[in-house]
Amino acid sequence: MRRLWRPAIDKVVPYPVGKPLEILAAEAGLPSLVRLSANEHPLGPSPRVIRAIADEARQVHLYPDGDASRLRAALATRLAVLPEQIIFGNGADELLALLAWAAFEPGDEVVVPHPSFEPYATVVAIAGADLSPSPLAGYDTDLDDMLRRVSERTKAVILCSPHNPTGTIVRRRALGAFLRALGPEPPLIVLDEAYRDFSDDPDAPDGVALLPSAPTLLVMRTFSKIAGLAGARVGYAVAGAEVIDRMNRVRAPYNLNRLGQVAALAALEDVEYWQATRRLVIEERERLARELARRGYPAPPSQANFLLVKVGAGADTIRDRLYRAGILVRDGQALGFPGHLRISVGAREANERLLRTLDAQR
Ligand SMILES: Cc1ncc(COP(=O)(O)O)c(C=O)c1O
Repeated sequence: MRRLWRPAIDKVVPYPVGKPLEILAAEAGLPSLVRLSANEHPLGPSPRVIRAIADEARQVHLYPDGDASRLRAALATRLAVLPEQIIFGNGADELLALLAWAAFEPGDEVVVPHPSFEPYATVVAIAGADLSPSPLAGYDTDLDDMLRRVSERTKAVILCSPHNPTGTIVRRRALGAFLRALGPEPPLIVLDEAYRDFSDDPDAPDGVALLPSAPTLLVMRTFSKIAGLAGARVGYAVAGAEVIDRMNRVRAPYNLNRLGQVAALAALEDVEYWQATRRLVIEERERLARELARRGYPAPPSQANFLLVKVGAGADTIRDRLYRAGILVRDGQALGFPGHLRISVGAREANERLLRTLDAQR
């Protein structure tokens, strides 16, 4: 019998993206739903972004700039790196796939915290490499355990800070020690900073600042969260030019579409909106965490735009009641945290509605 598919694919479970919001609302018989389950922007993109997309719409019959030159130059200036140290992806998700394609082979091991963002395990499985899951210590990444797992076979170590789904960070000094302990021939180190823009802890590391001393480090970030461009799919990675060059070799030439490019550029230029988003999320995060804790629902200290809230055995019932009230939150069990709900920080009104609904349930 002719074998068509790679056996590695048998083990891959498609990512559960969930139904579109409009369909869920129709199913719930509600005019609209508040989605606090996907860590999206609480307000939507900046008006400048909307204008930029509308202006660019006339050009969609033309292929995009395959180098995303204008966006690349602006981002390089913002981050104080060279343009050739940046690669863009159709969301940061794609960058994980590109890295795996360029680097992971059967026989390789990839160390990841467990639980963590699901696509890490998926790209490792697709590549036919082996996952070495490092259990979290409570809600925290256990760098000592991760280090113990690094062997000759280790191709990459993936860190996520702020971590999804816990919201916790790896500490600056601990990360520095970890990088040094990997020695002179370290594996690839992915530092996923998708949520870093929401971090206000001075002890949070800045991956980009670590690059000069860590040649195998790849820092991943995205416009999906802070800039509200989740639907436009613009992620990026910053690394040494050698790492970026390898990833570019497996990248499709036009992976970043025209609308995404102009949207990200406008978002980058709208510093005020960026800062206002950051302030709003940090303020609402602190308030929501306090209010939830007061109601007996604690969460580990989050530096992201969501909280992993411990609600106990009634998690399913609470989630179901919230859904019927028009609020979607993420099932913690599916993320490796039974008895928890992952709740995105919404705008003030959405958070108030969440709290009111919880109160009405008691
Ligand atoms: C930790 C983490 N990394 C990466 C991503 C991917 O972001 P993007 O929308 O840019 O693909 C997400 C999205 O939720 C995430 O939670």
